[in-house]
Amino acid sequence: VPVANIRNFSIIAHIDHGKSTLADKLLQSTGTVLARDMKEQFLDNMDLERERGITIKLQAARMRYVDKTGEPYCLNLIDTPGHVDFSYEVSRSLAACEGALLVVDASQGVEAQTLANVYLALESNLEIIPVLNKIDLPGADPERIRKEIEEIIGLDCSEAILCSAKEGIGIVEILESIVKKVPPPKDTTKEPLRALIFDSYYDQYRGVIVYFRVMDGKVKEGDVVQFMASGKEYEVGEVGVLSPVQMPVKELFAGEVGYLAASIRSVADARVGDTITLSRVKAEKALPGYQEATPMVFCGLFPVDADQFAELREALERLQLNDAALQFEPETSSAMGFGFRCGFLGLLHMDIVQERLEREYNLNLITTAPSVVYRVHCVDGSVVECSNPSALPEAGKRKEIEEPYVRIELLTPKDYIGSLMELAQERRGEFKEMKFITENRASLVYSLPLGEMVGDFFDQLKSRSKGYASMEYSVTGYKESKLVRLDILINEEIVDPLAVIVHRDKAYGVGRALTQKLKKLIPRQLFKIPIQACIGSKVIASEAITPMRKDVLAKCYGGDITRKKKLLKKQAEGKKRMKSVGRVEVPQDAFMAILRLE
Ligand code: GTP
Repeated sequence: VPVANIRNFSIIAHIDHGKSTLADKLLQSTGTVLARDMKEQFLDNMDLERERGITIKLQAARMRYVDKTGEPYCLNLIDTPGHVDFSYEVSRSLAACEGALLVVDASQGVEAQTLANVYLALESNLEIIPVLNKIDLPGADPERIRKEIEEIIGLDCSEAILCSAKEGIGIVEILESIVKKVPPPKDTTKEPLRALIFDSYYDQYRGVIVYFRVMDGKVKEGDVVQFMASGKEYEVGEVGVLSPVQMPVKELFAGEVGYLAASIRSVADARVGDTITLSRVKAEKALPGYQEATPMVFCGLFPVDADQFAELREALERLQLNDAALQFEPETSSAMGFGFRCGFLGLLHMDIVQERLEREYNLNLITTAPSVVYRVHCVDGSVVECSNPSALPEAGKRKEIEEPYVRIELLTPKDYIGSLMELAQERRGEFKEMKFITENRASLVYSLPLGEMVGDFFDQLKSRSKGYASMEYSVTGYKESKLVRLDILINEEIVDPLAVIVHRDKAYGVGRALTQKLKKLIPRQLFKIPIQACIGSKVIASEAITPMRKDVLAKCYGGDITRKKKLLKKQAEGKKRMKSVGRVEVPQDAFMAILRLE
């Protein structure tokens, strides 16, 4: 089709408002994917994604659509990840489009992520088509939500499409509206090649597969391309379109969306947001907006069994081929032995990597509590970045510590404003702004240390608002705080992975709560185990685990052998995720205790 008949669009929505369901219906109704070939939710094709019901990595699909007048179109849908950890990827995929469907659940209304994504879409100058989804639900109130979107976002919703992705209502209207309202790409085929990478993944046999949108020029098999940010050059082995399975074509032109394979060794060579150009006729300037994804959250990963260290390294190297944001370096801990300090975009990213290591690589790991990156100004004038509390320079050597702050926006029904303000204050949030976005819902803005948000903040937000509040955050920069390091001693030995950096005013409370929690989590032994929290050499809280007397098996009555076996098996399973620290067995939960203090 000519470039005038191409439409590139994406779907933006808050989690669970029905983005994937709608994408599926669009693919089905254009005959791109037959219903019977359709695994549930074609675009979310990672197993983990399907299980968790969220989109992590984005994908793309090309559809053919013949409109009501008989004119054929080529529609490229570029999916966006649905989680805050991946907002940079959302911004890159939006930059590859001319339009976006804004999907809002007609029973729920605008949520924090809806707003964040709309702002990203507006920044990329996209034509936005509002879609009110889930109108089949008894609680749906499209009229109210229509007004809400107009008031909050200032978007004209008089032509908003009423839709039920589940029942297939409104799908044709959406396709017609894409064709009519989303502008076609500009025809800049004559200019030097510039293509924007919005996704990439590592294929064992073909190397990295890069998904991109050609913004200017053209690209074909045999071309030598350069990735402008990494500077790496490769000869293109294959170009193609995503229909949605990969289908090779001869050449891709300005306005088109597709993939290329070029035996690229690692996704770090061809990162999301980078610009592809031709080596012999280079573009003058890369496309705007490239950022290297920087890890914000770090934790230690240690094999339970020291023999698995080499396997862990290999698994991390493999995952990194496919995940440019994942960082790791070897770490040695006096308590834990050899492991790796790993960096992630956020907590979800951390969870996913951990789960994949255990599931796909069969590793048995102990994960230490996540930490942010502190910036330490030392007395000697040097500045040290520290992502590991136990490596914080000594009190005498440091002048001040800075920590990362985020701007956080909470959207909540007005009944929960009080309890959410309390939550933000407990987490050292500085109040910035509150406004009522409708009669019943408010937006609260705080500046808050990222370190206070890592952990159970999101769970707390949900539980204190009965599930009704939503949030969105972005990192704003570093600020000085009065921070101290709290060390934990178990059986008189410092357990370095349990060290935490906390605000001075909270140190005593945290010390007390943490020692109490550890007392509950660490199993009793035959001897007494003291647990202490210290700042420097000063003990600020202490507890003790009393020695165990009874034999566990004594619980079994009458020598019932199956019960006995069960109990022993249960114990063995419990044991798997334990690390011996000195003479004490410390379970995985204890390393995460700091995240769930009462
Ligand atoms: P992420 O992938 O996390 O971004 O979520 P999503 O926005 O893609 O949501 P998804 O399509 O997975 O839908 C979330 C839930 O809403 C699923 O249980 C769907 O079955 C349901 N759902 C989606 N569309 C409709 C609809 O029109 N009506 C009803 N009743 N349920 C729907």
